[in-house]
Amino acid sequence: MAPMSRLSSYASVAYWDARYQQCALGARDEDGDHDPRRELTFDWLAMADDVLPYMQTTPADLADGNGRILEVGCGNSTLAQTLSDAGFRDILAVDFSETVVQMMDESKPPGSTVRYAVADCRDMRGVVGEDSCVAVVDKGLLDAVLNDFDQAVWWEKSASRRITRDNPEGSRDRGCPYDGETSRAEALKVVAEFARVLHDGAELLVVSYEPPSGRTWLFEEDGKVWQQTFEPEEDDAGNFVYRYRRKARTAVPTGLYEMD
Ligand SMILES: C[S@@+](CC[C@H](N)C(=O)[O-])C[C@H]1O[C@@H](n2cnc3c(N)ncnc32)[C@H](O)[C@@H]1O
Repeated sequence: MAPMSRLSSYASVAYWDARYQQCALGARDEDGDHDPRRELTFDWLAMADDVLPYMQTTPADLADGNGRILEVGCGNSTLAQTLSDAGFRDILAVDFSETVVQMMDESKPPGSTVRYAVADCRDMRGVVGEDSCVAVVDKGLLDAVLNDFDQAVWWEKSASRRITRDNPEGSRDRGCPYDGETSRAEALKVVAEFARVLHDGAELLVVSYEPPSGRTWLFEEDGKVWQQTFEPEEDDAGNFVYRYRRKARTAVPTGLYEMD
């Protein structure tokens, strides 16, 4: 059976918009219990302070802290504001949920150097220029985009476990309900966007729940673009931190098309 074409909720803007609208209503669920994910800010995977030490770019490396840091899929994380507090002066935090972008923009503290903007990370042209950033930081964005891919991989691995006498093919015959191929293709578009917006030699930092077997392929598809700067590390919370540098763009030989 062909896989269903609908991607799971984590890749859909409707899901995130609805979720962030709940934050505006308060941090209690329908039963009145406290739900931290409905607070005004919430950090997936790792707290912002724990991410900062992994960054190779520091405000001291940049003239007056300038040089654009792009946080992708910012959600209502405290990361962008933490970067601002650390001395970075030019921080652009983007998300495809208008709801969260508006919420974060309206609630930022006075003096914050963070700019929030709506952008779909699969195509940020029009919001983030080519070759315009000294660092891109992703905490949980690729995980959202790759959710179906991860689930499809898991489904394939675990299919044999669902084999029964009445169902000797396991659940394979019912077809995998996750559209892993589309999810994979969308994630590669996101990574291509990271490459487009970064300066040559600039840093990409990715925090993910997924171990290297499930993520490093993203940066190896085109060996000309990414250079791994450190072996992926597992942080204290069991997440993985990936660090790459964008390799220099290949110069187009001048005069190639010149006629005498
Ligand atoms: C798992 S949350 C992580 C949020 C935040 N970075 C953090 O660390 O708490 C994923 C975020 O990515 C955003 N997102 C998912 N797909 C996106 C896309 N294609 N373009 C922009 N943002 C996206 C969602 O709206 C959500 O805010």
